[in-house]
Amino acid sequence: MKRCLTGIKELDELLGGGLPPGDTLLIGPPGCGKTTFCTQFIAEGLKRGEACIYVTVDNSPNYIRKHLKLRGVDPHYYEQKNLLRIIDCYSFKIKGWFPEKVREEYVVSNPADMNELLDKIEKARSEIGPNGRGVIDSLSTLILATHREDEKYSYAFTLLDLTNARVKELETSAIVVLVKGLHDPKVEARARYICEGVIEMIVMEKESALERYIRVSTMKFTHHGTDLLKYRITERGIEIVKD
Ligand SMILES: Nc1ncnc2c1ncn2[C@@H]1O[C@H](COP(=O)(O)OP(=O)(O)OP(=O)(O)O)[C@@H](O)[C@H]1O
Ligand SMILES: [Mg+2]
Repeated sequence: MKRCLTGIKELDELLGGGLPPGDTLLIGPPGCGKTTFCTQFIAEGLKRGEACIYVTVDNSPNYIRKHLKLRGVDPHYYEQKNLLRIIDCYSFKIKGWFPEKVREEYVVSNPADMNELLDKIEKARSEIGPNGRGVIDSLSTLILATHREDEKYSYAFTLLDLTNARVKELETSAIVVLVKGLHDPKVEARARYICEGVIEMIVMEKESALERYIRVSTMKFTHHGTDLLKYRITERGIEIVKD
């Protein structure tokens, strides 16, 4: 089975060589380093010559480009080489006020419209080819952007279901971010159920300081370790700390 290396050596060892094909849910509380993890995952793919799609909902495309630069890749170079596409589900928030600032090619004008989002992803995929990896950062904000209460969760589950099936068919891996504590526990349970695997980021209060840990909770077809890996965030990204 094909595997996607995450870019974090110790985590890839726990995973038995990286992520299997399909969606992996990345769950963690606000500010724990989820976007850092995702940009590291994409930078790793680009360094390996894989095509990558980053659906950004919580941050501007330029913020993601800055993160990628810090992770050692030049996003513009890969965009020109048709290896990177950033799907912009962020700029609709500022477009009315600052239309001159929105110069992205893949702007989703209404992220609550799943067809528009899936069309943009498909357009990007057809340009960069099938051999790649993807990120949705975050599913939580897409859920919150869906206007009608009764549509919120069917939107999330349909999106997860469709992307998981398509990503598996392409034999590649995608990371879908869910913010811990933001949704009904049933939502988290169902998202865990749909995805091929779950990676959790955990923040604990220890003697007046915060400690951060990452672990693999589940991963289909994988004999994975379940150890908690302590990490810190630096300019280079997520780094595992050995005690
Ligand atoms: N250069 C850095 N050096 C050290 N720590 C950093 C650095 N940059 C960010 N951090 C830490 O990373 C955290 C934010 O990381 P990130 O944006 O990846 O988190 P997140 O989980 O995506 O947040 P959100 O839930 O808001 O989307 C900050 O709270 C800070 O503690
Ligand atoms: Mg984030």
